[in-house]
Amino acid sequence: MIRPFQGMAPKLGQRIFVAENALVLGDVELGDDSSIWFNCVVRGDVNYVQIGARTNIQDMSCIHVTNHKWPTLIGDEVSIAHNVMLHGCTLGNGVLVGMSTTIMDGAVIGEGCLVAAGSLVREGFIAPPHTLIAGWPAVVKKDLSEDHRLFVASVWSRYVRYKEAYFKDGWPIAEAPEITHPQPGFKDGHPYP
Ligand SMILES: CC(C)(COP(=O)(O)OP(=O)(O)OC[C@H]1O[C@@H](n2cnc3c(N)ncnc32)[C@H](O)[C@@H]1OP(=O)(O)O)[C@@H](O)C(=O)NCCC(=O)NCCS
Repeated sequence: MIRPFQGMAPKLGQRIFVAENALVLGDVELGDDSSIWFNCVVRGDVNYVQIGARTNIQDMSCIHVTNHKWPTLIGDEVSIAHNVMLHGCTLGNGVLVGMSTTIMDGAVIGEGCLVAAGSLVREGFIAPPHTLIAGWPAVVKKDLSEDHRLFVASVWSRYVRYKEAYFKDGWPIAEAPEITHPQPGFKDGHPYP
């Protein structure tokens, strides 16, 4: 489902996959070749969400924002594994967030970081680029090795292939809904609910 909210419709790039039972709503931008998998929620109703090109949001993940305060910004070539909660946070390009992790308001995950599975990233936490972040609550464990970097790069590129395989199998390329009276997004002055 790709739905407008208060005159703000999701803005979609080229060749994006959005699973039929995912919800993408409101002030959300999705970059080219991104993919939103089964049962995800991307809810841009009280602030905005930006998701870059070639980024994948895997099954059961939830992306939300905080009214007035925190949008959620996700870079290019990012992988969000299954069952992740992202709330009002910023993720640089080339980040991988492991399964069942939660990242809270104001946290900033630097470019190329790996956030280990099952981590809790506290509000306002700053992760330096190219580091491994892990734990409950998460701390910086070490710089990423070459093996980690290869792993991180392998996941987003596989997901670009996977969504193309779904298109070949007849699944539709995502289309933005048409709206009669479009309203500006939150960045451009839309009133916060
Ligand atoms: C992080 C990960 C890649 C392991 O990396 P690694 O370099 O082998 O990690 P190590 O075993 O050397 O551990 C390094 C430190 O991080 C900790 N750590 C590693 N994985 C952790 C996890 N998932 N949760 C908490 N701590 C973790 C270790 O306890 C260790 O801590 P210490 O130095 O204080 O003792 C792996 O645990 C992980 O989370 N992979 C992501 C899996 C995933 O989500 N896959 C889906 C992708 S689509």
